[in-house]
Order: sequence, then structure tokens, then C-alpha cells
Amino acid sequence: MSRSEATGPEDPDGTGIDLSTELCGIPLENPVLNGSGTFDALAARKAFGDVLVSEFPFAGFVSKTITVEPRAGNPPHRLWETPSGMINSIGLPNPGLAAFCEGDLGELSELPVPLIVSVMADSAEGFAELVEAVGGRAGVAGLELNVSCPNVHSGLIVGEQPDEITALVRTLRPLTGLPLIVKLTPNVANPERVAVAAEAAGADAVSLVNTLKATAIDPDNNRAWLGAGGGGLSGPAIRPVALAQVRAVAAAVSIPVVGMGGVSDGESALEFILAGARVVAVGTENFRNPRAGQVVREGLPDALQRRGFGSLAEAQASTLS
Ligand SMILES: Cc1cc2nc3c(=O)[nH]c(=O)nc-3n(C[C@H](O)[C@H](O)[C@H](O)COP(=O)(O)O)c2cc1C
Repeated sequence: MSRSEATGPEDPDGTGIDLSTELCGIPLENPVLNGSGTFDALAARKAFGDVLVSEFPFAGFVSKTITVEPRAGNPPHRLWETPSGMINSIGLPNPGLAAFCEGDLGELSELPVPLIVSVMADSAEGFAELVEAVGGRAGVAGLELNVSCPNVHSGLIVGEQPDEITALVRTLRPLTGLPLIVKLTPNVANPERVAVAAEAAGADAVSLVNTLKATAIDPDNNRAWLGAGGGGLSGPAIRPVALAQVRAVAAAVSIPVVGMGGVSDGESALEFILAGARVVAVGTENFRNPRAGQVVREGLPDALQRRGFGSLAEAQASTLS
């Protein structure tokens, strides 16, 4: 009998620790997703071959953010390495809704894990168009709303304003039966206020954190290194901020929390679970190692066992003192 036959499907690594979980009814073999925009599954498949599909590094795949119209993204430089992290000003390049639905979506829905599509618009009408079009497609398990953008009508960053979130989620909720995950920005004093508004308006989960506003200066000519002037900081540098925000948000809402911000191994993933996250997402670490998701998953059983947890569920149920 093989190891996996002996231990069952919830324990594919044969560690004796059950990592299976679910997110808003989406069953997951383990709690490790990717952060939107940080892992191009289709490009990776071309580069590394079908082994990337048969040994997919994540238990669920979150697409890069899709907008209604195509976007070219920001001018270079778009990436800047910092101590323990990086600043990106990629600017959400994507083919736009129509081309995404005709092209990438079909291939992404063939991945061996549930697919969550990330969408962003500058108005509730734009979000509605995206949610209706993508939500109606086979093979989509959930939608993530990237709300780190200004509303064209109010001029306000949607994710910074509880009232904007309430109005947006109330508009979108009746348009789909799929889980709606609201991705929170860390660039606010009280992310829990935004999370509570999202939950009250009908969101099924919140994910956090997106990147922290940041810049890098070339002191020789006093200019910003990044083409867009500034961007968003990510990676282990932001982990303590992300943990504090995940902890505050998880204490304020009953819906599940997707925790991210510098997750790089089993230990850091466990920190997020103990802060109250149901599952974690790996972002910047994918740029160092395309198998980062697998590294995190493989490190989790040991991290759990050393704290006396017999399963992921036990850690999810335990609260920080
Ligand atoms: C290069 C890059 C591109 C990103 N693109 C997106 C995106 O398209 N949509 C989104 O919601 N977040 C995007 N993010 C944010 C990540 O999903 C994640 O929230 C953030 O980087 C924090 O996690 P990390 O520290 O593990 O990278 C991007 C981050 C990076 C570094």
C-alpha cells in the first residue's frame, strides 16, 4: 500500500496532519492560495511544462485582476527590490474582460484546483459587468473584488471607505450566487471598519492585505525610481503589518479571512492562521521560487505539529491570547 493510500486524500504528503479546509463552501486540499497578480499559471505552464499542472503549487488559484477594458499597465521601472520585499507599480496590465473570457479563462478553468477570478472597475456599473460576465462562466468557483481603486463618480478609493464598500457589495450581491471575496487595502487606519461593512452588505469573505503605498527615490537626481512615481510594498517586510490587520479584521467579522503579506514558509503561514485567517495566500515569494506555494504547504505540517496541533482545523479553531 502506498503512503497516500495509507493516509487518505486529506493527507497527500503522508504527514499524518490533515490540511484540508474550505473557503465559503469551496473545498480546498490545503489552505495555501496565491495572491492575485503574483503567479501567472499559464506562463508558468509554458515555462515549466505540464508538471506544473499535475503538481500545482496552490490549493486554489486566484487570477490576476481583470478590468472591463484592456490595460497596458504602468511605464517602467515597474519593480523595485527593497530590504525584505519589493515595490511594484505594475498597474494591472490585462487583456480586458472580453479577451479574458475568450482566451485565458478557458485554460485557467482547466487547472486542477478551484479558480477565483479577481476583478476591478472604477464604478459599480463596471464591477457589475465583470461579475455578471465572469460569474456566469463554467469553472469559476468564486470572485475576488479588488477595491483598491478610485470610484469614478465619487473620486474616493473604494476600499478605504466603508460606505463605498457597502454600496458596491449591495449592488453586486444579487448578481451572482458565487462567493464574493472583498480584497482589503492596508492603507487605512481601521481595516476592520471596511471589513465589517463588507460582511454586512453580503460579502462571503475578505482577503488582506493588498500592498502598502510606497516609493523609492534616486538621491542623485531626486526622482522616483518607479515609472509611476510610487507603487505598493509587499513581501516579508510587510508581514508584521499584515498580521496586525488580519488579527484585527478576524476579530471583527464572522466571515472567513484570507491572510496574506509576506507568507514565505510554513511558519509564516501558521502565524496568519493563528491571527485568525482561514487560509493564506502567497504573493511576492512566488517571484523568488515558483514552487513557493508547495514550500509553504510542505512546511505547514511540521509547524503545526511542533505546536501540538493535530490538524489545520485545530489551529484554525484556536485563538491568540
Ligand atoms: C507584482 C505584483 C502584482 C500584483 N498584482 C495584483 C493584482 O493584480 N490584484 C490584486 O488584488 N493584488 C495584486 N498584488 C497584491 C498581492 O496579491 C498581495 O496582496 C500582496 O503582494 C501582499 O502579499 P505578499 O507580501 O505575499 O506579496 C500584486 C502584488 C505584486 C507584488
